[in-house]
Amino acid sequence: MNQSCHMKIAKYEENCEIKAGLKMKNLILCLSLAFNLVSGLNDGLCPTPPMGFSSWNAFKQNIDQEKIINTVNAIKELKLDEYGYNYVIIDDLWSSAQRNPTTQYLQVNTTRFPQGMKFISDYIHEKGLKFGLYANAGVKTCAGMSGSLGFEKQDLDQFIEWEIDYLKYDNCFPQNENEPYKFDKLKSLLHFPSMYQTPDEKTRFEPMGAAIKAASNKNIVFEMCLYGFGNVETWGKHNGHIWRTTGDIKDRWPSMLANIDINDEKRFTSNQGPNIGWNYPDALFVGKGGMSNTEYRTMFALWCAVKSPLMLGSDLSKVDMNSEAFEIITNTELISVNQDKLGVQATCKNNCCSHSLFGGGLYAPLTCPGFRSSWQAWSGPLENGDFVVIIVNRYDHDIKVDINWQKDAQIPNGVYEVRDMWQHENLGIIESTDSLWSLGTIGFHDNRAFRLKLVQKTTKNNFLP
Ligand code: GAL
Repeated sequence: MNQSCHMKIAKYEENCEIKAGLKMKNLILCLSLAFNLVSGLNDGLCPTPPMGFSSWNAFKQNIDQEKIINTVNAIKELKLDEYGYNYVIIDDLWSSAQRNPTTQYLQVNTTRFPQGMKFISDYIHEKGLKFGLYANAGVKTCAGMSGSLGFEKQDLDQFIEWEIDYLKYDNCFPQNENEPYKFDKLKSLLHFPSMYQTPDEKTRFEPMGAAIKAASNKNIVFEMCLYGFGNVETWGKHNGHIWRTTGDIKDRWPSMLANIDINDEKRFTSNQGPNIGWNYPDALFVGKGGMSNTEYRTMFALWCAVKSPLMLGSDLSKVDMNSEAFEIITNTELISVNQDKLGVQATCKNNCCSHSLFGGGLYAPLTCPGFRSSWQAWSGPLENGDFVVIIVNRYDHDIKVDINWQKDAQIPNGVYEVRDMWQHENLGIIESTDSLWSLGTIGFHDNRAFRLKLVQKTTKNNFLP
């Protein structure tokens, strides 16, 4: 903890002491405020990463009422909500480029949404789902609609009238409507690989965070879509629940790898979890078609293991219950890894582009010699001493992999049952110190996803007397 944090806590503690003679209620309030300085918002809204559908990857700028209604109906028909997918988030372009000249309120684009946002919100809520909307911490949204900078309280009031449950807040046009990005070159250099715009991200994202905290309706999940800029890892947890760590993902294998690599930088992985918040390498694409199903399996396994929010990003009205895409997004074993109560982000343990001098994937093609020619082990702890292990074949050809669980995936001493989460079968009992375990052939861009279930904490090599 840094010194200023210590001082703030000391100040709160001093206040608490003064009030200690007063009511117990005040003391509890003080303690919870002090605790807030070291952990996140602690409002209980996102104890595990949220799941749902977000419109941008699926529809980009072609968004309208019919598509959202069809999406909601598809979620119900496919029973995706029973797997946990319950947020429906409408991205950019629901609003218009001008505010109402009299009231200065944001205006709904009525060509796209003829019955307005309260209608959509009611429709979503009647189906037992949650409603999310998009706005932007600048003068315009990324697609050129009205921005919310300087209008935070007023815009939030309007969103609350529409009963939103989730706000995605973007990072374009920080000061000038002709410049989508305005970088502070010196700060960006000083804080590399984090970039800074001007006004910086903290300055522009905090007013909306504060408005949400101050609002009587506090059940709004706040996603800060700021691409990992402004060193969000140092302050984001006090302002929101989710922060994007990366630029926009594309429906392509290299882009997917780049985003998961950036999301794995140590500055991010050490700042996440329940009551802190979630690193977000952007929404999913499973089912959209730009990648193969094999690549989507790898995307889904990694997103689950790193505890990313799981936002579906394909046209769900076209998803068939018998399709591989459906099978992937409803893999309950992987979803339960994602929703594990411990909430620890799995990290790359061998051949990791993210740990190079220049950070993650943005630079990986240049700086990470293993970018397209490595197999990686990603692992992380789960509840009850279990571990998740994802082996990823990043080569453009099939490979044979033999793994030493301890050396390659850093699994602590112990005896574990190996569960294959794609085949849904137990493969046998191993000791983490066993020399080599053969995984056989892994197809190119494919993965193997395992849950190591703890059987016993010591191994025969390490038995306590
Ligand atoms: C980008 C954002 C995308 C999407 C888009 C809308 O900045 O990262 O997820 O919201 O803007 O214009």
